[in-house]
Amino acid sequence: MTVRGDATTPQAVSLGGAMWTTTSSSPDQTRALGCALGASLLGGEVIALDGDLGTGKTCFVQGLAAGLGVPPGSVASPTFALRHDHQGRLPLAHLDFYRLEDPDEIAWLGVLDAPDGAVIVIEWAERLPAALPADRLHARLTSGPGPDERAFVWTATGPIAERAFLAFQRTHVG
Ligand SMILES: Nc1ncnc2c1ncn2[C@@H]1O[C@H](COP(=O)(O)OP(=O)(O)O)[C@@H](O)[C@H]1O
Ligand SMILES: [Mg+2]
Repeated sequence: MTVRGDATTPQAVSLGGAMWTTTSSSPDQTRALGCALGASLLGGEVIALDGDLGTGKTCFVQGLAAGLGVPPGSVASPTFALRHDHQGRLPLAHLDFYRLEDPDEIAWLGVLDAPDGAVIVIEWAERLPAALPADRLHARLTSGPGPDERAFVWTATGPIAERAFLAFQRTHVG
């Protein structure tokens, strides 16, 4: 996995925060990246993942869960259930907004309710941006140029996400 800091690009500055790009060339590398983030979390973070089908959002969450100490093999896509809850050293709520269209549906389903100190990770977050807390760590995933290559562009908005972002960078860069 290669890491390249983009914090000095004009685009990053215009977002008012750091932007960081990580790349992966295999599912294992994506899980390792997720594991590094999971190990960096303290609880209370919201992580929003966007990118086309098959870019690796669920694969990333499998690694993130491992980094939180969730038992291996328990993370699958919550596309139909909308939400899966896991317990590691922190509670993990894994959500998927793909099938949601109305922010009221989110409140009704209670999909953003999570125990205190939980980590919330949301696939297809951009489907309902209005439902998301402002303080969040966001990644946009893209595929290519090779079939197994992926890029993650990370941004943090708010103090909770920024702390996690910096800890993640330190863990991941080593
Ligand atoms: N570098 C990579 N990172 C993640 N997944 C990859 C990678 N290369 C190939 N893949 C494959 O892409 C698919 C990603 O699926 P998934 O994680 O379910 O995506 P999403 O949740 O974004 O729809 C899997 O079949 C996985 O094996
Ligand atoms: Mg998925």
